[in-house]
Amino acid sequence: MKEVRKFALIFTLWSILLAPVAGLMAAGQEPIKIRFSHVVSENTPKGQGALLFKKLAEERLAGRVEVEVFPNSIRFTDEQVLLGLLFDDVQMAAPSLAKFRSFSDSIQVFDLPFLFNDLEQVHRFQSSETGRNLLDSMIPRGIKGLSYWDNGMRVISANRSIRTPADLAGLLLRIEPSAVIAAQYKSLGANTFALPFNRVSDGLRLGLVDGQENSWSNIQSQRFHEFQDYLVETNHSFQGYMVVTSVKFWDGLPADIREALQQILAEVSVEVNRIAVEKQRSSREAVITAMGPDRIVSLSDEERAVWRQAMQPIWKEFEHQIGVEVVNAAAEE
Ligand code: LMR
Repeated sequence: MKEVRKFALIFTLWSILLAPVAGLMAAGQEPIKIRFSHVVSENTPKGQGALLFKKLAEERLAGRVEVEVFPNSIRFTDEQVLLGLLFDDVQMAAPSLAKFRSFSDSIQVFDLPFLFNDLEQVHRFQSSETGRNLLDSMIPRGIKGLSYWDNGMRVISANRSIRTPADLAGLLLRIEPSAVIAAQYKSLGANTFALPFNRVSDGLRLGLVDGQENSWSNIQSQRFHEFQDYLVETNHSFQGYMVVTSVKFWDGLPADIREALQQILAEVSVEVNRIAVEKQRSSREAVITAMGPDRIVSLSDEERAVWRQAMQPIWKEFEHQIGVEVVNAAAEE
């Protein structure tokens, strides 16, 4: 009986004094897991950015943070990933700016054709107050933007030669799920189909769609050009990304980890944008060589002005949804 009482006393003391400490130690040892899901191949600006983020986070926050990267839509398509963030199935993603329509009207500004002439204008807008505010525009819906990443300007490929906007009439084009991009082609007499990115190659190969628009690195890494006869260098809009997380996950991180991750992302963003410029050049060269230079239509300044004039009415159509001040801020940069 005496033995039993002694055991009970030791057990009670252990529970009061040591168990919470042991619990805390165990909790402290568990690294925070960040699953980062994206849809492109690893050999692209975004693919490289996700890997560099993992490397730096695991080096600088060793034992405290573990990052698992899921490329090529192996875990989620962009159509699924934002819900995945909200349900904590995944903690980070970097969808194209054309994919946030359900969460923020204003982010559609990036889809407007011929609004951005070059990457410098994009960067000036992104770092302006209006551009930075867009990172927070989905907070009421539980999504937080952490950083912008570049890919490049969009060009159009198709199974017939295109030089003028009128040449698009009657084509069925695969687009990203953007109302702006759908309206842009509809106004030129083309139809659109928002296939998920991981279906585009097959869609082109099987002839389900006649063409598509994308950045050079996506065209090359997904081999879209192998199933297309022609390509026109319109450079009509910017294809870039917003690195996002959920407000709940981000706010729940210890402050020092949050700050370290934010610093790492700032460094990774510089590197991603450097790789994007390099890829835009090298992927372009590789695609032109593979297709044959006579299959690539380059536009003169006058021809480009005709495209701009044909597509620009879309700005008016969407300026109230996006916000006139947002469109003006981007246009004036
Ligand atoms: C697309 O769907 O074409 C792109 O958004 C894919 C990507 O992430 O670059």
